[in-house]
Amino acid sequence: MPHLEVVSCLNLLFFLHAVAPFKLTGQQQWPVPYRRFEHRPAVDSYCEALYPFCPTGDRDGRIPYMRDSDIISVYRLQTPVWEFKYGDLLGKLHIMHDAIGFSSSESGANYTMEWYELFQLGNCTFPHLRPDQFAPFWCNQGAACFFEGIDDLHWLQNGTLEKIGELSGNQFNDMARWIQDDNETGIYYETWTVRSDPGPNATVWFESYDCSQFVHRTYRKLSQLGARLSSRSQTNYTKIYLYSGEPTYLGNDSSIFGQPALKNLATAIRQFYHPFRPHQSFADFAASLLEAFQKVVLEKSFYLYYNFEYWHLPMKPPYVRITFEEVPLP
Ligand SMILES: *[C@@H]1O[C@H](CO)[C@@H](O)[C@H](O)[C@H]1NC(C)=O
Ligand SMILES: *[C@@H]1O[C@H](CO)[C@@H](O)[C@H](O)[C@H]1NC(C)=O
Ligand SMILES: *[C@@H]1O[C@H](CO)[C@@H](O)[C@H](O)[C@H]1NC(C)=O
Ligand SMILES: *[C@@H]1O[C@H](CO)[C@@H](O)[C@H](O)[C@H]1NC(C)=O
Ligand SMILES: *[C@@H]1O[C@H](CO)[C@@H](O)[C@H](O)[C@H]1NC(C)=O
Ligand SMILES: *[C@@H]1O[C@H](CO)[C@@H](O)[C@H](O)[C@H]1NC(C)=O
Ligand SMILES: *[C@@H]1O[C@H](CO)[C@@H](O)[C@H](O)[C@H]1NC(C)=O
Repeated sequence: MPHLEVVSCLNLLFFLHAVAPFKLTGQQQWPVPYRRFEHRPAVDSYCEALYPFCPTGDRDGRIPYMRDSDIISVYRLQTPVWEFKYGDLLGKLHIMHDAIGFSSSESGANYTMEWYELFQLGNCTFPHLRPDQFAPFWCNQGAACFFEGIDDLHWLQNGTLEKIGELSGNQFNDMARWIQDDNETGIYYETWTVRSDPGPNATVWFESYDCSQFVHRTYRKLSQLGARLSSRSQTNYTKIYLYSGEPTYLGNDSSIFGQPALKNLATAIRQFYHPFRPHQSFADFAASLLEAFQKVVLEKSFYLYYNFEYWHLPMKPPYVRITFEEVPLP
């Protein structure tokens, strides 16, 4: 079939062309910058939340205005993930959720602010393989949620509720504008941090984009706005690591799954994700992580989805690790 050969060659050239800027110039920036969007797109109706996102937040994400004379206390909030379902088991594994609390000294009102998955962690970590679509389908949006109230008990039980600083009303209002912009332009959740090895001099290939990264960004913003933050205890956060050699860029949905010449790659990516269907419970998710671990150890291969593009990771020991490590306040 000479005609098909030609088509394949052209596609291969096209593919190499897409890869070339990364391979030949050696200019690839690590970690790969997380892509910002002009605005958040509507969620595909295929993605259905089991638990509604931000049920008690303002529908339009509005954050109340504070008078400059007000003094706003800032709280560091941390709790084991889904503690109500699994007790503090996930706390012992140190899978923690982070948030920030605020309280106004003038009105006495208090507020919680957090950034999390619209469709839970499993859906942000593994895609759906739909019979009617060749490309894996991701329900991976994440967003900020700001709502009135701080549930002291929820955070205090096996977690943290600690006042770490104070803001003026103006500083709070500046932060609110920044949050809304951050929320509109940073739209998807990324579970994994990918590094070359566990040592202190490792190259970071990809940074996660999750609840704790949001907390760090906000603390940095507050510090830029002139706020002083300090904690009496060590401020540790959960990180989920993959370890690999230098990643190779593969392409996006249309360049991989729309090219007959790349059918083998497309099929390999689908097969890779097949055991890791997004499950509905965190326990199942933990079991999937274990399965993922076995697969990446045996095959030393991982297809990472980042910025809505695929990368190949040549995995190496210790492959996958969950840590709870210190990130000091700015
Ligand atoms: C994950 O996404 C699927 C597909 O939309 C949905 O049916 C399921 O409820 C989601 N899981 C959770 C925990 O929200
Ligand atoms: C962030 O975006 C989500 C999704 O559109 C929205 O529900 C939420 O209210 C927004 N949050 C803030 C603080 O703007
Ligand atoms: C907190 O930890 C203690 C001791 O480990 C345990 O007895 C208790 O049930 C935990 N509480 C919650 C809400 O997980
Ligand atoms: C937040 O407000 C509630 C209701 O007034 C109160 O019970 C709780 O202690 C407050 N929490 C903080 C950290 O200010
Ligand atoms: C990390 O890099 C520093 C500076 O180049 C060097 O002094 C140190 O020995 C390195 N540490 C390891 C564990 O390689
Ligand atoms: C996918 O990649 C191709 C080739 O690099 C590019 O032309 C196209 O704009 C990309 N599509 C999206 C949706 O980013
Ligand atoms: C917090 O992180 C530090 C350094 O990253 C580590 O030595 C310490 O054991 C961690 N604390 C807990 C409770 O895991």
